[in-house]
Amino acid sequence: MCGIIAYAGSRSCTGLLYQGLRKLEYRGYDSAGLSVLVDGSIEVVRAVGNMDSLERELKGNGHADARLGLGHTRWATHGRPSSENAHPHSDCSGKISIVLNGIIENYAGLKEKLAREGHRFTSETDAEVVAHLIEKHYDGDLLEAVRRTYADIAGHFAFCAIHSGHPQMIAGARKECPLLVGVGEEEVFVASAIPAFLSETRDVIVVGDEELFVATPGEVQVLDLGKKRLDREITRVNWDVGAAEKSGYETFMRKEIYEQPDALIDTIAGRMAAPGQVVLEEMLVSDEALAGIDKVYIVACGTSFHAGMVGRYVLEDWARIAVELDIASEFRYREPVLSPSTLVVGISQSGETADTLAAMRQARRMGARVLAITNIMGSQATRDADGVIYTRAGLEIGVAATKTHLAQIAAIQLLALKLAQVRNSLGPDAIGAIAAEMKTIPGLLADYLKNESATHEIAKRYYRQPFFLYLGRGVGLPVCLEGALKLKEISYIPTEAYAAGEMKHGPIALLDKGSPVVVVATDGHVYEKVVSNIEEVRAREAAVIAVATEGNEGIKAYSDDIMYVPRTSEMLSPLVSVVPLQLLAYHIAQLKGCNVDQPRNLAKTVTVE
Ligand code: G6P
Repeated sequence: MCGIIAYAGSRSCTGLLYQGLRKLEYRGYDSAGLSVLVDGSIEVVRAVGNMDSLERELKGNGHADARLGLGHTRWATHGRPSSENAHPHSDCSGKISIVLNGIIENYAGLKEKLAREGHRFTSETDAEVVAHLIEKHYDGDLLEAVRRTYADIAGHFAFCAIHSGHPQMIAGARKECPLLVGVGEEEVFVASAIPAFLSETRDVIVVGDEELFVATPGEVQVLDLGKKRLDREITRVNWDVGAAEKSGYETFMRKEIYEQPDALIDTIAGRMAAPGQVVLEEMLVSDEALAGIDKVYIVACGTSFHAGMVGRYVLEDWARIAVELDIASEFRYREPVLSPSTLVVGISQSGETADTLAAMRQARRMGARVLAITNIMGSQATRDADGVIYTRAGLEIGVAATKTHLAQIAAIQLLALKLAQVRNSLGPDAIGAIAAEMKTIPGLLADYLKNESATHEIAKRYYRQPFFLYLGRGVGLPVCLEGALKLKEISYIPTEAYAAGEMKHGPIALLDKGSPVVVVATDGHVYEKVVSNIEEVRAREAAVIAVATEGNEGIKAYSDDIMYVPRTSEMLSPLVSVVPLQLLAYHIAQLKGCNVDQPRNLAKTVTVE
């Protein structure tokens, strides 16, 4: 979704801002812009469409002397994508420029009032009120104007402001949306995500929730809402700059699919040290407290929800605990029954998804213990939770999640083992055996990926089909849901994913001769049931594409095409069976000429409801 980058320092900054925006593209956007201070006045350049459109607007106008500026990628919420609605926004005088992520919920009333007071608005956005409020409150002190503006606005947001009278200063504030300051040599960056400035500096100061900041090349101050200065240490980020590049792969998504063995190794590392003992240090819930938990409630969105659904099967199977699962946007508007003995697990790759955060906060208010599973250190989810299990998948750029999904599955499997340990539902030997098997999976997956070619061939046979049905059963159900989501997200082919046993109650009506039906048919206690469902599909002359366990020769009699995956125990099988489905979606989208890294209308991080 929207992205912010700001710069103050001694270097010419137009290129730095542009480069920062390029690094934020992965979040999804439909317009972009930047504002720079040149010869004492602020110049704004904005364009609808992708960064190439902005680049065209900037052509011949490099603003070489600019040393202060803001940049923004916008994903439209209030007001259609247009250059007027693109950020940065200005006040009436043109001396103030702002960029904002998030939503100002009370903007309509504020806009009406400001208009009555004589302010002239040039966009349909909620964000523009911030520029005019700063103008209204400004009396020579930009930070104070930001502070008063913050007090006027409601919603969730992060914003940065510059003023032509302060040629080295960026000021701003955040509520729920992230904002980070990158500290360089005699220069300072502010951004909504670290990749925006990672190539320039690794030294980061996090602006906390409901805090203000003012940054100049020599000094960064983070303050509370009463303007009391807060102690903030600089954290050194150890991300690999190359992680934000494609490293020879044609797309980020392909690179990230191939990084999955490493994502798994890192997520498991050190967490199953002693035999039969699971160590989840950042979880911050004692074994005694964990033993008192009688229900786990998983909330998440999108691909993270599918990881959560895998969690339901493994938690029930290994930890013998009651599990509920809900989409965060539903959970937050229901009256879920929670108690201090409920463990609510919010799963969010980004740690920023508005609905998941709201669900986690609601759970906390209702007295439940809240755990976050996230890939981003210090993200908002980690602050809204009592404890965290970090997935250690590294930076994911492709909008369609792949390696973070696999790491989420591993994380919830670790949680299930931990609960099994404290609840004694599995003995140390059984836990040790599962842990030992988990450790073998990255190697199995790496070998599989090295030799994988079936999915491309299958993609070539089916990519012109107008519709795909996906079926799965048991722990194969979340896998088929995720496979179908991947295909529709990146190839725009309509898909339906269903519990295989439920197919005859509806989706079977969609089948025709040759309709592709992808069936997750890995070995497990429901395998025979899945085969019966395959028979039903074949009776309608549909084409069966099966995901099956290596060595299963019998499936050949029932399938038109087979994607074999390495043999694992049933509860660990999603760690391998989802991978061919990612690849199938990938190849089909590539064959159709789609932009797999940035599918239309989708955003990597959904910071609005
Ligand atoms: C968006 C992304 C998905 C992601 C979902 C939840 O829809 O495009 O890839 O699964 O948000 O995101 P989260 O960061 O909470 O996991």
